[in-house]
Amino acid sequence: MKIFSANIEDFRTLYTTHLEKALDMERKIVKALPKMVEHASDIDLSVALQNHLEETKIHVSKVQGLLERNTGEVKTSTCKVIDALATSAADTITDVTDPSVLDIALIAGAQEVEHHEIAVYGTLKAWARLLGLSNDVSILESIEADEIKADRLLTALSTRVNREADVAVPAYR
Ligand SMILES: [Fe+2]
Repeated sequence: MKIFSANIEDFRTLYTTHLEKALDMERKIVKALPKMVEHASDIDLSVALQNHLEETKIHVSKVQGLLERNTGEVKTSTCKVIDALATSAADTITDVTDPSVLDIALIAGAQEVEHHEIAVYGTLKAWARLLGLSNDVSILESIEADEIKADRLLTALSTRVNREADVAVPAYR
């Protein structure tokens, strides 16, 4: 059920509405990451999530700056995707009891978020280019690059963390 509708009458408004959704997304990630850091057992994973939390705070201010310049105000539109991903990650933290398995699940949850962010910024960057907003393009590219780097780091970590968790599984196979 759609609770309210925003009037999106042109491409520029579509772009700024999606910037508002990106801001909502980044703010919600800032709220969700501390719990993931707290529950990570692997030190490298914990540091990676903590570092990405600091990066995400910078993403919040960069997107706020883009909105300010494009619309003269900073407001959000609800990002329903991040609501679902954050709920799913929180459920996993509650459900998984083995710490090394939880690390695997945290990496999976964090990568689901990263992949969504990469899609969001890839689209916004393409739209900014079409709209001739070259300054916006370079800011969006810098955020997208951070997300891609974070995702690759999680992939690298998962190779080791997944193997260690697999070794920790009782030998019933
Ligand atoms: Fe981000």
